[in-house]
Amino acid sequence: MVGGLLLASTLAGCGGDDGGSGSGGGDDKITLGFSQVGAESGWRTANTKSIQEAAAAEGIDLKFSDAQGKQEKQIEAIRSFITQRVDVIAFSPVVESGWDPVLKEAKDAGIPVILTDRAVDSKDTSLYKTFLGSDFVEEGKKAGDWLAKEYQGKSDPVNIVELQGTPGAAPAIDRKTGFEEVIKTDPKFKIVASQTGKFERTSGKQTMETFLQSVKDIDVLYAHNDDMGLGAIEAIEAAGKKPGTDIKIITVDAVKDGMTALSENKINFIVECSPLLGPQLMQLVKKVKNSEEVPTRILTEETTFTPEQAKAALPDRKY
Ligand code: AHR
Repeated sequence: MVGGLLLASTLAGCGGDDGGSGSGGGDDKITLGFSQVGAESGWRTANTKSIQEAAAAEGIDLKFSDAQGKQEKQIEAIRSFITQRVDVIAFSPVVESGWDPVLKEAKDAGIPVILTDRAVDSKDTSLYKTFLGSDFVEEGKKAGDWLAKEYQGKSDPVNIVELQGTPGAAPAIDRKTGFEEVIKTDPKFKIVASQTGKFERTSGKQTMETFLQSVKDIDVLYAHNDDMGLGAIEAIEAAGKKPGTDIKIITVDAVKDGMTALSENKINFIVECSPLLGPQLMQLVKKVKNSEEVPTRILTEETTFTPEQAKAALPDRKY
């Protein structure tokens, strides 16, 4: 561990048998209140499954609440967990801002909070014990790096359209930041249109239809997740163009549907974002409940995929 930061795989390597009080059932069974963002994408469905299965495997009593994409519902759920006196609260924040009051309420009630998947922008980091999840800025940079390589040695302008995730959400903000950081170093790259597709397939399709009508020459689509990219593919095909060829496509996540489209050359490159956070989260829950020290930031290990790599990975893909 360096500076309070640990790789998720290292933590997962601690195994499940640490003598924590949550695994035994009976009186000392741990109760975890978890507030999920919603069910906007294949990634989210896989994440929910991972958390539910891991809680069951560890004998942790999971109180699961679906916020349907609304911050006020998440705040309501967290308040309800406080009232119920759960042992630990975990949540994946819909948006980055506006959490301090409810997090203070949890702290005052003596209930530890774990952030999973997405961060909050609270200055007071004592309001939560740890944050387990991806580095979204890094994901955006990987997308930009692939593009820079793909167009290396070419001087013609490259018109990029961007499908952003949910406004105000950490992955939408950070994936944009990381991508722009790389492409701004070469003036031939230009983001000619950038709008939200809310991380959803239908919304991605509708926004791509608007881009196709309003932007004359689109060379590249950068979608902040697979689902929006898959929706956009439908719009591109309906417009009589060939996705992956007429318009190059980069997405993030690497869920099975995205990987299938990549293996068919309809997507050109995918940056992985793993939703399988359940087992690591349950280890943290047990440690936090036992007042053990945990690293303040735990990074998920991830890779990237080309069409060839997707073909090889698909048979064993878990989500
Ligand atoms: O926070 C993770 C992001 O949220 C995933 O990339 C996206 O698919 C999901 O909706």
